[in-house]
Order: sequence, then structure tokens, then C-alpha cells
Amino acid sequence: MSVALVTGASAGLGREFAEQLAARGSDLVLVARDRERLDALAEELAGRHGITVEVLVADLADREQLGRVAGRVSDPDRPVDLLVNNAGLGSRRAFVRNDLEEEEHALDVMVRAVMVLCHAAGGAMRERGTGGILNVSSVASFTAMGHYSAIKAYVTVLSEGLATELALHGVHVTALCPGFVRTEFHQRAEMDMSRLPDRLWLDAPSVVAAGLDAVAAGKVVSVPSPVYKGVVGVLRVVPRRVSRRVSGALATRRRPQDRLG
Ligand SMILES: NC(=O)c1ccc[n+]([C@@H]2O[C@H](COP(=O)([O-])OP(=O)(O)OC[C@H]3O[C@@H](n4cnc5c(N)ncnc54)[C@H](OP(=O)(O)O)[C@@H]3O)[C@@H](O)[C@H]2O)c1
Repeated sequence: MSVALVTGASAGLGREFAEQLAARGSDLVLVARDRERLDALAEELAGRHGITVEVLVADLADREQLGRVAGRVSDPDRPVDLLVNNAGLGSRRAFVRNDLEEEEHALDVMVRAVMVLCHAAGGAMRERGTGGILNVSSVASFTAMGHYSAIKAYVTVLSEGLATELALHGVHVTALCPGFVRTEFHQRAEMDMSRLPDRLWLDAPSVVAAGLDAVAAGKVVSVPSPVYKGVVGVLRVVPRRVSRRVSGALATRRRPQDRLG
């Protein structure tokens, strides 16, 4: 039986990863800050699927708490076969209009924690000659829409580099790059998404299924759904100055509060 560690497992895509991995018979380590939600999910999944579920409460922005998660990921006595780096958050404000502290927090959770856990898992898996890492990135990683794009570009490129570095050692790395998904993400960031057309929304179960299929198929970069495959296909061929202009204009339109003052 295999073991998967999922960060951000208390809500949204992370919770869905936990549910689908449990249904496939994987034991789980669930990581997030909300103990109550993690305990309830652990009890539900262990009962329904007869698997073992550990709860590891940690704020990934906190170095000491992140260190505990990294220790669990690289523990040679309790190997983790699949690491899902999923925890993340959005911001509704443009970069310079936001508090620096918030931007640093985003960097700690979605860049530093991802890097530290990839290092811990990659090293342990390389040693064993087997394992997988799934990093949840975004279609935003192909655009130039502020700090979030830069953060997710880091995640996609780190995944590509690691995939090459570890391929010869039996370890597979995938970057999952979804477009807009219905989760708690936008509500938590207080973003008004009411004008986003229905056809641009994805649902968490199909995004997660695509991610797990991509890992199984050994894909390095996975973009779920035909609509977003098309968007990324176009972004890859148009000159960067064009995609920069379009994504910059869209980002400003989505944030009317940043045009004031
Ligand atoms: N939704 C979208 O449209 C979309 C699109 C592309 C990519 N993504 C990416 O998908 C991933 C999952 O997002 P989601 O849409 O599922 O959002 P979500 O529903 O808001 O869930 C976010 C998860 O991350 C956890 N988390 C946040 N900060 C954390 C911290 N400091 N330490 C530990 N855990 C933390 C939260 O748990 P606690 O609050 O309990 O800690 C929660 O479980 C993110 O990396 C996001 O960037 C989302």
C-alpha cells in the first residue's frame, strides 16, 4: 500500500486529492492549519476506505512547522510515495497596493514551502529509487498577472527542472496547471468572480483526476480541460509582449479597487 502526503488538505483541491487518493487505496498524511477540518476528514476517509490517515497540523509559512512536515516527508522509516504540494492562496490586490507582509506570506507558502518539501521528498525518493511529486501550479504560470503568476511560474519551472533531475532515479515530478476552479480560493481572497463566464470554471473532481492521471502517465506539465489547453497553447506561441499586454489588461479589469486613487 502506498502513502501520499497532501498539503492544504482541509479544503478545495487538497481535500479532493485526499478523497480520490483514499478511493484508490492510498494511506494519507493530511497537512493544513485547520485541525478540526483535518480530523473530520481523516475520520471520514479512514472509515469509508479502510485506510490509515495521519493528521499533521502545520502552518507552512512557519519555518519550524514546515520543518516538521519536511521531516515527515523524508522519514526513512515511514516512506511517503507521493507528495502533493497543493496548499496555496490568492490575493485580490495588485502587488504594490498590497502589504509587503502578505506578499511575503504568499511566497513562503507557495514558493519556499514547495521548494523545501520538494527537496525533502526528492532526496528521500531518489535514495529509494521510486516516488512521485505533484506540484499544484496554475495556468497563471504562463501569464504575467502580477506576483501570483511569478510564484506559479516558479512552481512550474521548478517541477520541470526536478522532473529532469530525478527521472533517471525512478522519481517522477508533475506540475498541474489548472485554470479557474470552484473552491474556497476566491472567496478566501475576497475576489469578486461574478463576471467570470461559466465555461471558464472547472470543478475540483475533474482537475484532481486529471492531475493523478498525469502523474500515472509520467506527464511533466498537465493543463486540465480543452479550454485551458487551448489558452496555454496560444500563450506558448504568441510573442511574450502580446501575452504580457493582454494578461496585464485582464488583471487590471479584474481589480477595480486598484484603479481607484
Ligand atoms: N481555485 C483556483 O481557481 C485555482 C486555480 C489554479 C491553481 N490553484 C491552486 O490550487 C491550490 C489549492 O487551492 P484551492 O483552490 O483548493 O484553494 P482553497 O480551497 O482556498 O484551499 C487552500 C488550502 O490551502 C491551505 N493553506 C493555505 N495557507 C496555508 C498555510 N499557511 N499552511 C498550510 N496550509 C495552508 C488551506 O488550509 P488551512 O486554511 O486549513 O490551512 C486549504 O486547505 C493552490 O496552490 C492554488 O494556488 C487554484
